[in-house]
Amino acid sequence: MDFNFRIFDLRARQIIDSRGNPTIEVEVLTEGYGVGIFAAPAGASKGIFEAVERRDRGDKRFGGKGVYSAVDLVNKDVSEVLIGMDSRKQFEIDRKLIEIDGTPNKSRIGGNAIVATSIAVALAAADTYGIPFFKYIGGINANLLPVPMMNIINGGKHAGNELAIQEFMIVPAGVDRFSEAIRVACEIYYELKNYLKSNYGLSAINVGDEGGFAPPFKTSEEALKALTTAIEKAGYDESHVAIALDAAASSFYNEKEGVYLIDGKKLNSDELLEYYMDLINRFPIISLEDPFQEEDFNKFAEITSKIGKKVLIVGDDIFVTNPKRLEKGIKEGAANAILIKPNQIGTLSETLETINLARMNGYRTIMSHRSGQTEYPTIADLAVGLRTGLIKTGAPARGERTAKYNRLLRIEELLGDESEFLGFKAFPRAP
Ligand code: PGA
Ligand code: ZN
Repeated sequence: MDFNFRIFDLRARQIIDSRGNPTIEVEVLTEGYGVGIFAAPAGASKGIFEAVERRDRGDKRFGGKGVYSAVDLVNKDVSEVLIGMDSRKQFEIDRKLIEIDGTPNKSRIGGNAIVATSIAVALAAADTYGIPFFKYIGGINANLLPVPMMNIINGGKHAGNELAIQEFMIVPAGVDRFSEAIRVACEIYYELKNYLKSNYGLSAINVGDEGGFAPPFKTSEEALKALTTAIEKAGYDESHVAIALDAAASSFYNEKEGVYLIDGKKLNSDELLEYYMDLINRFPIISLEDPFQEEDFNKFAEITSKIGKKVLIVGDDIFVTNPKRLEKGIKEGAANAILIKPNQIGTLSETLETINLARMNGYRTIMSHRSGQTEYPTIADLAVGLRTGLIKTGAPARGERTAKYNRLLRIEELLGDESEFLGFKAFPRAP
């Protein structure tokens, strides 16, 4: 082993995320003075098949949301095994983490402790080499900047309003460069703010968990009208900007009655499919995430076969970045794209396995944040390094969201003429 890469110290601590909830941060040092730090993000609309977060249930501190016990486990059980290992041996290290945990859903030391450790190790190795993280992950020629899918109206579990659909995103894909996409998105964000203020009053410009506005809308239609108006007011049209939705349908599904509660109505899955078809016919929607609850592979397959040639059907809660869930989805034709959230599965190696499987089967990949985030820009580097072509990391607002966009702006500058941006080619069809 090149001793420079040997893990010399590994320690965990508790910090807080963008909702003020505790989260675990892991810091890894190598003999060659490399440092890697990463902290676990946290979802609000979590999939039931995700790796389990370890929290101090029953402890009064932080209302039982503390991660002190996960911190202890990393400082004892994990550091004992990982110290002395080669930080570049990601697969071996991740296998060790899975072994130390010993449960199928990573509930003993926790998916949160595992993801923080796994990624901190990779960051430390990259730092020891002295190369940017995206190059460590993707090689010296990693150059693909992702198209941002920016959530500028928040609903569902991310906002205190009545919108059932969780995310109304703009996709500024009709430009040549990532930095131009950010400019266009910001201009639309300002226009949306003006529109909301003048039509719904001051309280309509409060923002939700992902930095998008959380206006008192009652229907998806109102939100889509606001988006299209803001796009137009900013001087753009469908050739520049499209719309993407994340329904996160599990969060408005009533399991007992088998119905979805949306826009003040109860819809069965056939009616919900019609509901989406109607919106897709009337608005420039190019991507639809989690249109049905996370167990309904059939309905996912039905909508994919209907509109999958024109629209991305993205699986998030249904696949939870898990190769086994994705494999089932592929067999059943349940989608044509997958959201990639490393903390849903736990380790970097398993995240890579899922991305490879997706690619081999013609699925698009979207790197993604969580609604509870920290300031670490790391997923920006992962998006470039893994050539996902797409990224979802909130509105151009709130530091934990802009950290990712700003990192991508710096990467674009660093790459100069070498950088690449797919624009609408990242989608099944140009609008
Ligand atoms: P979450 O939502 O991070 O709150 O789970 C994000 C998403 O559903 O994509
Ligand atoms: Zn989602």
